[in-house]
Parts: sequence; C-alpha cells; structure tokens
Amino acid sequence: MAVLWWLLSLLVVLILPPSYHLATPSSGSGQLRRLWLQDHCSAGICTNVVIGRSDYVILSQAPIAGTTMLTFLNSSIAKIPHLLFDTFPDLQVLRMENCSLETFEKPQFEGASNLMSLFLGHNRLKDIPKNIFLGADNLATLHLQGNQLRQLGNHSFHALKEVKELSLAENQLEQISLGVFSGMRKLMDLNLAGNRLDALPRGVFDRNLNLTKLNLARNRFTAFESELLKLQPVFTQLDISGNIFQELTLNFTLLDVAIAHSCDLRRLTVYGVIQELDLHNNSLREMPHIPLAANVSSLDLSHNPLGNLQGNPLRRFTSLLRLNLSATGAHELPEGLFKKQSHLQMLDISGNSIYSLKITIFDSLKALQYFYFQQNNWNCDFLQLLMSSFVKRKDISFMEDITAPELVDDYVDGIACWYESDKQSKKCDSGGSDAAMELSVVRNEIKTFTELVEKKFVKVYRMLEELKMKL
Ligand SMILES: *[C@@H]1O[C@H](CO)[C@@H](O)[C@H](O)[C@H]1NC(C)=O
Ligand SMILES: *[C@@H]1O[C@H](CO)[C@@H](O)[C@H](O)[C@H]1NC(C)=O
Ligand SMILES: *[C@@H]1O[C@H](CO)[C@@H](O)[C@H](O)[C@H]1NC(C)=O
Ligand SMILES: *[C@@H]1O[C@H](CO)[C@@H](O)[C@H](O)[C@H]1NC(C)=O
Ligand SMILES: *[C@@H]1O[C@H](CO)[C@@H](O)[C@H](O)[C@H]1NC(C)=O
Ligand SMILES: *[C@@H]1O[C@H](CO)[C@@H](O)[C@H](O)[C@H]1NC(C)=O
Ligand SMILES: *[C@@H]1O[C@H](CO)[C@@H](O)[C@H](O)[C@H]1NC(C)=O
Ligand SMILES: *[C@@H]1O[C@H](CO)[C@@H](O)[C@H](O)[C@H]1NC(C)=O
Repeated sequence: MAVLWWLLSLLVVLILPPSYHLATPSSGSGQLRRLWLQDHCSAGICTNVVIGRSDYVILSQAPIAGTTMLTFLNSSIAKIPHLLFDTFPDLQVLRMENCSLETFEKPQFEGASNLMSLFLGHNRLKDIPKNIFLGADNLATLHLQGNQLRQLGNHSFHALKEVKELSLAENQLEQISLGVFSGMRKLMDLNLAGNRLDALPRGVFDRNLNLTKLNLARNRFTAFESELLKLQPVFTQLDISGNIFQELTLNFTLLDVAIAHSCDLRRLTVYGVIQELDLHNNSLREMPHIPLAANVSSLDLSHNPLGNLQGNPLRRFTSLLRLNLSATGAHELPEGLFKKQSHLQMLDISGNSIYSLKITIFDSLKALQYFYFQQNNWNCDFLQLLMSSFVKRKDISFMEDITAPELVDDYVDGIACWYESDKQSKKCDSGGSDAAMELSVVRNEIKTFTELVEKKFVKVYRMLEELKMKL
C-alpha cells in the first residue's frame, strides 16, 4: 500500500508542471491538487478546507495511520475526496456536516471498511446514486438530514448491511420505494421527519425486524396504519407529530413512547400497552380512548380544548407519574379528579382559568413532587390555603408567575392572584361563587384579547418597518 502511495505521488510530481503542486485551497476548481490535510487538521479537527466540484485532490504523501475521527469545520467540500479512506485507513468516524457537500461520486467508499459513523447533515446532496456506499460494509450510523434529497431508489443504500441508525430528516422526500431499507436488517432507529411523504408503501419495513424507533413527524400523512409495524417485536417509539390526522388509531402490543402533538387530532384510540403519550397542541375535546389506560405513565394533554373535565375521566389511569393539563381551557376541576393518581409525581394545570378548588382534591396525590399551577385566575385566599396546607407543607416544587403586575391584585409566593371585589361573597369560600366565576371569565377574555392585540400590533409594526425600508 505504502509503495503504491509513493508511486502515485511520484507520478503526480513527474507528470504535472510545478504550478499544479502549489495550488492553494482557495484557488479555482477543476484541477489536480495537492491538499495536505495535515496542514489543515489538528487532533482530528480540520478547518478551512476548500475542495471544488471537479478538483481531484491528493491528500497526503502516504497513508496516515491511527486517525480514527475526522471532523471538518468551516469547510467547503463539494465532494468527499477520492482517496480519503486510503489516506486514513483507520477512519471510524467522519463528520462533514454543513460543508456544502453537493454530490457523491463513485467509487466513494472503497476502503472505508472501518467506517462506523458518517455524519453528512446540512449539506446540498440532491440524490444518492445506486450502490454509492459499496465498501462501507461496517457503517452503523448514517446521518443525511438537512440535505435536498427528493427520492430514494431501491439501491440507494445497497451494501449498508450494518446500519442501525439512519437519519433522512429535513429533506424533500416525496416517495420512498418499497425495497429501499430492505438490506438494513439491523436498522433500529429511522428518522424521516420533515419530509413531504404522504404514504409509505405497504411492507416497507418488513425486513427491518429490529426497528425500535421511527420518526415520521412533519410530513404530509393524513392516515397512519399501525399495520406497517406489525412484524417488529421491539418497536417502542413512534413520532407522528405535525401531520394532520384528526382521527387516529394506534394498535401496538407495547409502545414506550408515542408522540402525536400538533396533529389537529379530535379523536384518538390506542390499543395495546402504551407508556408515554404526548398529545399537546391538538383539538381534543375528549380524553383519548385507551382500554389499557392503567399502563400509561405519562400523559401530555396540554393545549387541547378539553374545557371543564366531566365525570371521572382519569379513573383508569392508575399508574400516571406525569400529567400535563396546561392550557386546556379549564375553569374548574371535578373534586374527585385525581383520586386514583396516588403515584403521580408531576402535575401541570398552569395556563387555565382556575379560580379555586376543593382542597381535598389533593388528598390522593401522595407522591407529588412537582406541581405547576401558575397563570390561572387564583383567588388569593384560596392560594394561601393551597400553599400552606399542601404545596409548602409537602415541599412540592412549583413555578412562579409571569403575569404583568399591573393586571394582578397580589402575589402569593410569586403566583398571581386576585381578591374578590365583593367582600360579601367571601363567605362562601367553598369554590367559586357565580360572581367570582364571571369575573374570572371576563379576566380571561381580557387576557386573550390583550394577547391578540399584541400579536396584531407586532404585525402592524412590521408592516410599517417594511414600508419605511421601501421609502
Ligand atoms: C469558523 O468561522 C467563523 C466565522 O467565519 C469563526 O468565528 C470560527 O472561529 C471558525 N471556526 C473555526 C473552528 O475555525
Ligand atoms: C454552516 O456554515 C455556515 C458558514 O460556513 C454558517 O454560517 C452556518 O451557521 C452553519 N450552519 C450550521 C447549522 O452549522
Ligand atoms: C424495488 O424493490 C421492490 C422489491 O423489494 C420491487 O417490488 C420494486 O419493483 C423495485 N422497484 C424498482 C424501481 O426497481
Ligand atoms: C436484532 O437485535 C438483536 C439484539 O441487538 C440481535 O441479536 C439480532 O441479531 C438483531 N437481528 C437482526 C436481524 O439483525
Ligand atoms: C390490533 O392488531 C392486532 C394484531 O395486528 C389485531 O389482531 C387486532 O384485531 C387489532 N385490534 C384492533 C382493535 O384493531
Ligand atoms: C399546533 O398545531 C397546529 C396544527 O394543528 C400547527 O399548525 C401549529 O403550528 C402548532 N403550534 C405549535 C405552537 O406547535
Ligand atoms: C400493564 O398494567 C397491568 C395492570 O396494572 C400490569 O399487570 C402489566 O404488567 C402492565 N404491563 C406493562 C407492559 O407494563
Ligand atoms: C406542560 O405543557 C406545556 C405546554 O405544552 C409546557 O410548556 C410545559 O413545560 C409542560 N409542563 C411540564 C412540567 O413539562
């Protein structure tokens, strides 16, 4: 190998006129260049490397053994240098992110059999030609997020038998062909978030029996079939956020985490065991239907228009550790709501319009450690009681308010509250009186209105700025 190298450099020296050898990195493209990577790299970090699209670079006089990691920073590299893996035969990790990489050329990965991790995110790659990864037999991690990939063919990932983690997030993929992942028998973690996919071919994951994590967030799916993943015994994490579903049914034997926020969901049914469910920012007016609710340990329903919960909707969620009911449009909470939540450690009811509660609602919350209840319409007297008889007595963590002081009557330990204007109605301190209720509704409307006006104001201001620019 070394002899070959020596011959090759000699050949270069003999054939080319001297001016070629002196080319600096910033010189134009389209030539044979020597680019001594040693001059640019120190401790595996290479900076300010410039390689044009048609440059053919010689990186070193001889192979450089012992370099296992290379990271390129502040570099512009249109293509991976031909002899990179011959120059660095021990290379295991290559980071060439944000380097304006435009194209793959074949043969690109010959000699890259030690390469384990390849990070090519945030470049300008438009496609992955057939068989381009031939040679990268042991690649386990491949990141291609933030490129401009539009499609993947059956043979794009040919030869990548060892890949466990693949990210294709933030590209422009519209379609994926059936066979594209079928060689990756060990694939565990696949990220397709932020593309333009509206469907996946049936059977696309049928060879990826070890798939455990799939991210389909922010695509154009309007339906999701759990059938796609029926063969995966260890599938545990699904993210389908930011697709518009309205109605969704998940049917998995056992799912650790399902993330389906920002889907405009109105109805959700979950069969099988699910442990963590993130449903924030949807349009749920009712609780999700989960026959095995007893297995749910974390439930995020924040930013859903649930309104005042009726009946006893949490009675079957007996193993909850974390519950987020922030910004769900609640004015009150039913007295027995948390009766079965004796394990609950974190509860968030912030950003609602709650004025007062029956203090006994907290009796069952024996394990609570974090309780977030700021940004409500608390009555100051009730808030004092809540603090002294529950929050502080049990040394529970809470969060202070950010409500502007001019809108607030008082603060109790940093949480905004209001006194009843009508002292007479103070007698019935069992829960909001009608008048107090009305007051809190009005207060909330004002809050919403103010926010709206602020938003509009920002918009008008921006328009004025734009006008000013034009003038
Ligand atoms: C990269 O370039 C930026 C600005 O051009 C500079 O601030 C930064 O220090 C450079 N980083 C390295 C590692 O050279
Ligand atoms: C990519 O590099 C450019 C300059 O080379 C820099 O301005 C930009 O912030 C970088 N982006 C990321 C995501 O690192
Ligand atoms: C891709 O492979 C699948 C089988 O894995 C085959 O059905 C399909 O026709 C192939 N597509 C192309 C474009 O070759
Ligand atoms: C799936 O993963 C397990 C454990 O990591 C491994 O033993 C098995 O060989 C993998 N299966 C395939 C088809 O790679
Ligand atoms: C859930 O999936 C299993 C296995 O794929 C199937 O047998 C069952 O009928 C499905 N349940 C529902 C309610 O769709
Ligand atoms: C909430 O979800 C909607 C889709 O229903 C989306 O358009 C919006 O950007 C999301 N908002 C946030 C703050 O994520
Ligand atoms: C689901 O909950 C039931 C009842 O609490 C329990 O027996 C079972 O072990 C749980 N299953 C899993 C996978 O957590
Ligand atoms: C509850 O959800 C809101 C809104 O999605 C979020 O800002 C907040 O951090 C969550 N609370 C906790 C304790 O995670």
